[in-house]
Amino acid sequence: MLNINNLSVCFDTPQGRIKVLDNLSYRLEKGEVLAVVGESGCGKTIHSLAITRLLPPGAKITSGSIIYKDKDIVKMNEPQLRDVRGAGIGMIFQDPMMSLNPVFKVAFHLTETLRAHSKISKKEALEKAASLLKKVGIDEKFLNSYPHQLSGGMRQRVMTALALCLNPDILIADEPTTALDVTVQRQILELIKKLQKEFSASVIFITHNLAIVNNIADRVLVLYAGEKVEECPKEDLFKKPLHPYSEGLLNSVVRLSQSKARLKTIEGAPPAAGKDFKGCKFAERCPYAQERCKNERPPILNLEGGRLVKCWRYEGKSNG
Ligand SMILES: Nc1ncnc2c1ncn2[C@@H]1O[C@H](COP(=O)(O)OP(=O)(O)OP(=O)(O)O)[C@@H](O)[C@H]1O
Ligand SMILES: [Mg+2]
Repeated sequence: MLNINNLSVCFDTPQGRIKVLDNLSYRLEKGEVLAVVGESGCGKTIHSLAITRLLPPGAKITSGSIIYKDKDIVKMNEPQLRDVRGAGIGMIFQDPMMSLNPVFKVAFHLTETLRAHSKISKKEALEKAASLLKKVGIDEKFLNSYPHQLSGGMRQRVMTALALCLNPDILIADEPTTALDVTVQRQILELIKKLQKEFSASVIFITHNLAIVNNIADRVLVLYAGEKVEECPKEDLFKKPLHPYSEGLLNSVVRLSQSKARLKTIEGAPPAAGKDFKGCKFAERCPYAQERCKNERPPILNLEGGRLVKCWRYEGKSNG
């Protein structure tokens, strides 16, 4: 569905060029939900904005390709990108106000998007908008509301309708529930899961919440400082994380079964963006680090069961 190869993104700053996404490669299969996880600042959002070519000013793709339907998104011009955004790849942002314009009513958002991509009358578009709202659990009377007249959960639902209205092949959801209370969070997650099945879309779900990963994902990709450090089926990650960083992430989650145990945190903080490394980027925080880890960059190792891990501890266990 999507094939990303050696994708790097840099920011040009007064202090020089800073690499925030470092040679990222992965494939998104049809109909699967891939969760992208990692601490704040590890490049989750930047990677999703690179896929839709919506990077902020100052940021640019410096290498790699993003192959969608045999074409490279990195090389596309604006008209081609317009077709991809919306009809090919829909996005749900953390903050719904990023994609909802406060001066337009809900109906306008949906009908304009529908009419920009297909030749339908205003009346047909309005009917479709009403049925989309129903699908996301909102009464059609809210077509006449402005975004600020809706609750946070309702805005998130409207944005989900907007992302899905062109029936995209791929849905990218960037922390879509972080700002919501847990009850609404669950409703939105269930909604995304239901619609993903109904529309048979592939989903890239960005989150730092491992409980959500467990609930929604088929596969997980762990990012650290702009690099992929592990990728595997969800069950494998929760049963036995291989990369020390993934292990740290899992250990820092409260589990009911260990209510009396002290919660472990990962020592230290992620490195500042743009810092130069000779060896593994995680070595300075890693409890297993050896001399070699500080001096030599580990490759991505391909282990049994299709697990990928970027760590010297698994050298010799690789399938090549
Ligand atoms: N406009 C910008 N100028 C310079 N650096 C930026 C800018 N936006 C993001 N960055 C840097 O890019 C890196 C990746 O940021 P990104 O927003 O992708 O992180 P994230 O994983 O989505 O974090 P969070 O979980 O907080 O959303 C960070 O180190 C950040 O400092
Ligand atoms: Mg982000």
